Amino acid sequence: MCDDNTAMTNGGFTIGDTTVSGRVVLAPMSGYNDLPFRLLCRRFGASLVYTGLLSAKSIYYSPRALGSPRTEAMLALHPEEHPVVIQLFAGDVDILEAAARAIEPLGMAMIDINMGCAKRKVLKSGSGAALMQDAAKVGEIFDRLSRALSVPVSGKIRLGWDDADRNYMDVARAMADNGAALIAVHGRTAEQDFTGEADWDAIAHVKHSLDVPVLASGDVKVAADVDRILDATGCDGVMIGRAAIGNPWIFQGVDRFSLTWPERVPVIVEHLGMMVEHHGENYGVSWFRKHLRAYLAGSGVVRRERHAMMQCRDEVRLIALLQASI
Ligand SMILES: Cc1cc2nc3c(=O)[nH]c(=O)nc-3n(C[C@H](O)[C@H](O)[C@H](O)COP(=O)(O)O)c2cc1C
Repeated sequence: MCDDNTAMTNGGFTIGDTTVSGRVVLAPMSGYNDLPFRLLCRRFGASLVYTGLLSAKSIYYSPRALGSPRTEAMLALHPEEHPVVIQLFAGDVDILEAAARAIEPLGMAMIDINMGCAKRKVLKSGSGAALMQDAAKVGEIFDRLSRALSVPVSGKIRLGWDDADRNYMDVARAMADNGAALIAVHGRTAEQDFTGEADWDAIAHVKHSLDVPVLASGDVKVAADVDRILDATGCDGVMIGRAAIGNPWIFQGVDRFSLTWPERVPVIVEHLGMMVEHHGENYGVSWFRKHLRAYLAGSGVVRRERHAMMQCRDEVRLIALLQASI
């Protein structure tokens, strides 16, 4: 643990009855934030972890099974990962309410509504960032959910649809006025997707205008950025997304490039083992490869060895390749 990195170790905030000890949060990331990755990030110091977005419609249409097998696997919570936030998406308030009620007994710290996803598949059902185009509907969603559920409800927004429509304050107010327990702000518009720079001043605007906890999201690239974004925005906490992929050390305040490859390999092997245990060898190794690609970036491992690792489908052989690369 890096002692001089105060944000990693100090402070915290409250959501409902849950005290979050620390201010550094694993951002929701669809396709990455399965149970093994959430657990790993918690062990490395993330004070709160999010699932990726899950379809409320899929849960609504099969509430007994809690959605598709993929959704159900994401909903398998582990006692050691708490506090954990489950993120839902839908464009319909009845569907959101029914799905939230169905998953509430799982015991998450909070249910979060995705209002930032700009993928066509999500937008076309009026969910994700499409919700930001209707602040009144956002208010209705938060009013309904915060009355219907005993678990706190939060939302993650962007700055608006595009530069001409940066309505984040209207949406954030609609949330705060209707019972939102926390607001996370990714400092880009939907049109920007991941291009350009996150606007930390806009995130600060939300934090300084409202009386609910606010989390800042966007462009934390190295450990030192955690204190920078907290200072710049005054937020209660900060989310780390892309910079955590292949890099759980960032939650300890450590940049992976300050570690040698032999220091990193045991963690990579542990992560692989967790994925195989959770998903089985076939899916576990196959899905681990996108994490492995990130672990290998800038590792100094030569191309031929990297290629052999990325092709490998067998856990024991992959561990042998990783250990041989030290
Ligand atoms: C692969 C990937 C998947 C993401 N999935 C989600 C998601 O499911 N829900 C969400 O609210 N944001 C999602 N995001 C956005 C992140 O939570 C975060 O706001 C964004 O990446 C900016 O933060 P960063 O610069 O720390 O990556 C995703 C981002 C990435 C890179």
